Amino acid sequence: MAPTKKASTTEMTDTLWKTLLDECCQRAEDGPLNQEHTAHGYDHWERVRTAGMMLAYMEGGSPKISQAFAWLHDCCRENEVHDPRHGRRAALFAQTLRTRGILRVTDDEWETLKEALTDHNGGRTHPDIDVACCWDADRLDLGRVHITPEMRFMSTATGIGIVEQMNRLDPR
Ligand SMILES: [Fe+2]
Ligand SMILES: [Fe+2]
Repeated sequence: MAPTKKASTTEMTDTLWKTLLDECCQRAEDGPLNQEHTAHGYDHWERVRTAGMMLAYMEGGSPKISQAFAWLHDCCRENEVHDPRHGRRAALFAQTLRTRGILRVTDDEWETLKEALTDHNGGRTHPDIDVACCWDADRLDLGRVHITPEMRFMSTATGIGIVEQMNRLDPR
């Protein structure tokens, strides 16, 4: 009989992804925002995930980092407007999930994800393609709060191209 394949300690299985999402949802539920009426809740995470996966595909980035970022990045927000430490809180929360074996990433992947989470609300671009895909994916969903993303804040060629098209279709 062929031996069953055992997931490595840096591999995300479907079960682990589901657990990770459940943990993020629970963390957000435990916070002060009303999850049904927040601009930073699950619906936003899913749009960031879709955009992040597409950007990772186009740019040669990591879909794993994009997906983990999408579900984690805003789950520790404490208000809708000015919460400059929510990225840092998300990174700390992700660290606890890694310690518990729910978030399985290599040391290199962890350093990248930590950087993407910690500084995602810093309003700058990033040269690392994985961080860049995460941040651009988040910015591409600014339309939900009636903001058209600005080209100068986009990090990837694909993201810049999409914003260029947005501006052409809806010049303001
Ligand atoms: Fe955020
Ligand atoms: Fe976000």
